[in-house]
Amino acid sequence: MVVKARLSISDRFDQRLFDAIYSRSLVYNACWEDPAVDRQALNFQPDDRVLVITSAGCNALDYALAGPARIHAVDANPRQTALIELKIAGIRQLAFDDFFALFGTGRHPGFAYLYRDRLRGELTPFARAYWDRHGAWFAERGRHGGLYYRGLSGRVARGFGAYVALRPKLRDGIEALLECRDLAQQRAVYEASVAPQLWTRPVDWALSRQLTMSLLGVPHPQRKEVQRQHEGGVAGFVREAIGYVASWLPIWTNYFWTLYLRGHYTAANCPEYLRPTNFAALKAGLVDRISLHTTTVTRFLQSTDERITKFVLLDHMDWMSTYRPQALVEEWEAILARAGAGARAIFRSAHAEPAYLRSIRVREGGHAIPLMDRIRFHSDLADRLQRHDRVHTYAGFHIADLPA
Ligand SMILES: C[S@@+](CC[C@H](N)C(=O)[O-])C[C@H]1O[C@@H](n2cnc3c(N)ncnc32)[C@H](O)[C@@H]1O
Repeated sequence: MVVKARLSISDRFDQRLFDAIYSRSLVYNACWEDPAVDRQALNFQPDDRVLVITSAGCNALDYALAGPARIHAVDANPRQTALIELKIAGIRQLAFDDFFALFGTGRHPGFAYLYRDRLRGELTPFARAYWDRHGAWFAERGRHGGLYYRGLSGRVARGFGAYVALRPKLRDGIEALLECRDLAQQRAVYEASVAPQLWTRPVDWALSRQLTMSLLGVPHPQRKEVQRQHEGGVAGFVREAIGYVASWLPIWTNYFWTLYLRGHYTAANCPEYLRPTNFAALKAGLVDRISLHTTTVTRFLQSTDERITKFVLLDHMDWMSTYRPQALVEEWEAILARAGAGARAIFRSAHAEPAYLRSIRVREGGHAIPLMDRIRFHSDLADRLQRHDRVHTYAGFHIADLPA
């Protein structure tokens, strides 16, 4: 039995707003979770069978490079699946330069003929209909054109880009920061030329709006959890996260934040799947180890007889914990039922310690057993790896071993 939270009228309004924009849109045009940290936490083996929530698909492609036997990329949003479908079609059908133009810079003036002659035939009907409608994104010109200014997260990047264009001092500070190749210099530039210009009332105001958070795929329970945990609220939490990233993590290898500051990746600062040798390895066969599924994690696990050994659950449980707590119980029952020997799960959360896990009881052998008695966390390893996380916008990173 799980307790459903009481929702106020404004909560219900926020929830409807979130569902309305979320159910019609591509939310993530790039994965906002660090696969380099995931790889260290999961230590992929050649016989591993992986379940990962697709989001923008960047991380499923990254994991394929580590050589596990099978990767099931599952997402409830068919537009997220349509994005990874286009990437996989590009890997199979295009030369590296054309592929990098599409997913490195997010634009290609010749997209129309590449799509018609090489890509469209590879796609499923939904993905074909989707890119028939939105392929023009790749042919856009102008400062804020291209894939990475599209999708809901892209809209926020475009809004921020327009704001920076109005603030020459902030723009100059960010450009100086992007040129840094030394951490001490980077920290000094951030503190002197970016932070004073960036953390203003309008930015704090925008960050404290539910609409901004909804566009970033953060439903109101997650926003409220950040507000509950951080005296500075969401703006304070984001300021602290960006302060840490700008002060302790090299910007020249942080392709997460630089993507949204530049609107594109560079050859020197991009996800692994966009590097020439890795692209060749994916094209040579690793990409064929990825299977795509547009469904929920629970339904996928209930429909397969495969034993999954690595689960990558992103931060989606935060979404379910408030609105669909019973669905979260069913999901954990399905995870435990399909877990193979030595299985491990990783997930992120706005909660440093997700209280909702403690209230979950899973049915096993006719008994309702506390989930926390069935899984074993590696908090020290998670804390150590979290320090290197280049995204750094999740209060919690969790690594849990599952019983076979
Ligand atoms: C919570 S976000 C994670 C995004 C991630 N933080 C990122 O930035 O890459 C959610 C992704 O999970 C998908 N999702 C949410 N709940 C799901 C479920 N129960 N089963 C499958 N996919 C789900 C959403 O469609 C979305 O693409």
